[in-house]
Amino acid sequence: MPYRILFITAEYAPLAKTGGLGDVSAALCQYLHAQGHDVRVFLPWYRDLNRAALTAPPVVLLEGLVLELGTYRYEYRVLVGTPSRSQQAVHFIDCPALFDRAGLYGHADEHRRFLLLTRAAFEVAQRMAFAPHILHCNDWHTAFAPLYLRTLYAWDRLFAATRSVLTIHNIGYQGAFWSDGVADLSLGDAQWMLHQDELRDGRINPMVHGILYADLINTVSPTYAQEIRTPEYGAGLDPYLRERGAAVCGILNGVDYQEWDPQHDRHLDQSYSAKDLSGKTRLKQQLASELSLSLGRGTLLFGIVSRLVSQKGIELLEAVLPEVLSQSDCGLVALGSGDARYEKFFTQLAADYPQRVHFTRGYSERLAHWIEAAADAFLMPSQYEPCGLNQLYSLRYGTVPLVRRTGGLADSVTPYNPATGQGDGLLFERYTPSALRAVLDEALALYGTPHWGRMIQNGMARDYAWETQGRLYVDAYRALVGPA
Ligand code: ADP
Ligand code: GLC
Repeated sequence: MPYRILFITAEYAPLAKTGGLGDVSAALCQYLHAQGHDVRVFLPWYRDLNRAALTAPPVVLLEGLVLELGTYRYEYRVLVGTPSRSQQAVHFIDCPALFDRAGLYGHADEHRRFLLLTRAAFEVAQRMAFAPHILHCNDWHTAFAPLYLRTLYAWDRLFAATRSVLTIHNIGYQGAFWSDGVADLSLGDAQWMLHQDELRDGRINPMVHGILYADLINTVSPTYAQEIRTPEYGAGLDPYLRERGAAVCGILNGVDYQEWDPQHDRHLDQSYSAKDLSGKTRLKQQLASELSLSLGRGTLLFGIVSRLVSQKGIELLEAVLPEVLSQSDCGLVALGSGDARYEKFFTQLAADYPQRVHFTRGYSERLAHWIEAAADAFLMPSQYEPCGLNQLYSLRYGTVPLVRRTGGLADSVTPYNPATGQGDGLLFERYTPSALRAVLDEALALYGTPHWGRMIQNGMARDYAWETQGRLYVDAYRALVGPA
């Protein structure tokens, strides 16, 4: 029954994370490991890796390795370590020339950094004589892996039975680079397999090639899997996705409830459960006092934890929040960083309403958990959302999600119906300020009534554990390679 899986990713929580990719990579691999599968995870040894309590010694026979990407020659070695609170080991690609830099992303030679990661995973598998059933790559960073499987490494019998899976966590990021980097791919005679129209236009798009050559493409919710087949959501790649037909599917992400559960959250001073929410109330009071906010007993506190980019619908908040704050008894605690425009907006809002609005610009694991627990409602007015994790965390923390009905938000939040008492959140449809405004008004009207408690109870009863969602990945593997 166990599968051998080669899993290549740019993020893996808590070691390297800028968003949900990190959470999902780690939780899925841990699930697979716990089910007895043999997973080899490959991650760059970034300078900014969170190394707390991590020991990762070099592997003796995997030092002094060399890879040539076109005319570039890189030396690297492999370190292996297991993050704390995990049983799943990680193989780190230690290539100082490419990864010993500040930040995970944003460098001029970005395509080479992730080509090296991708190719190193193959080369190390060869040296370990690891014959994977499944080659699982994630997002644009590692999306050339399926093409490499069919070209550069096709000669090796080790990979003869290997089938490839590309998980698209976000189609908005495609990693395109100029075609003068074509030699870096080292495809030689197989260069004809590159997308020729794009090449003529002077661009190479990793995500396109993942979509063309992976045996299975999945994205992180069923609704997003449908949406990205349309021009509105496909970011230019919808024709390729339509072309792949049944090879494209959606699997909703799960939640790592070891990390995200108010009954035992190591980042919080109080614990609570659906039966006794007094800890949640105390956490709200503590957060208010820590951030010098003065909130009344009936003040509805909104929470936001987000990358501050256009995907997340911050422009709708710009249009709506100032008015709502001026007219209603509500407050806001926001955490995030990203586009200067949005950071400025939250900074200004906090300056305008120092008693009721707080903004932390930056990244904080502890504050992210605290906001999830302390807020009454969580805002995710996303323009698009492949899955979204914070609304899943919010449900578990009794924090009512206010979301746009798109992607994974549509698949995980059920609209509350006051007539039946069913549902766990509030949704709006159209991407407009007035639609968002309507749902905020609805929240303000329901807060303090028995309906609010119903929503909390319904949400906390929902279960998005990886025990369920991870099984869908194993089913997908089985459909590709048969029973192991
Ligand atoms: P995305 O991957 O598009 O950023 P998700 O909702 O899938 O969105 O996942 C975001 C993850 O990153 C969540 O675990 C969230 O708590 C975390 N996160 C985002 N911004 C911050 C931040 N500023 N500080 C701490 N955690 C953050
Ligand atoms: C992406 C998406 C997010 C998703 C995450 C993990 O970054 O923006 O919606 O939850 O990946 O799959």
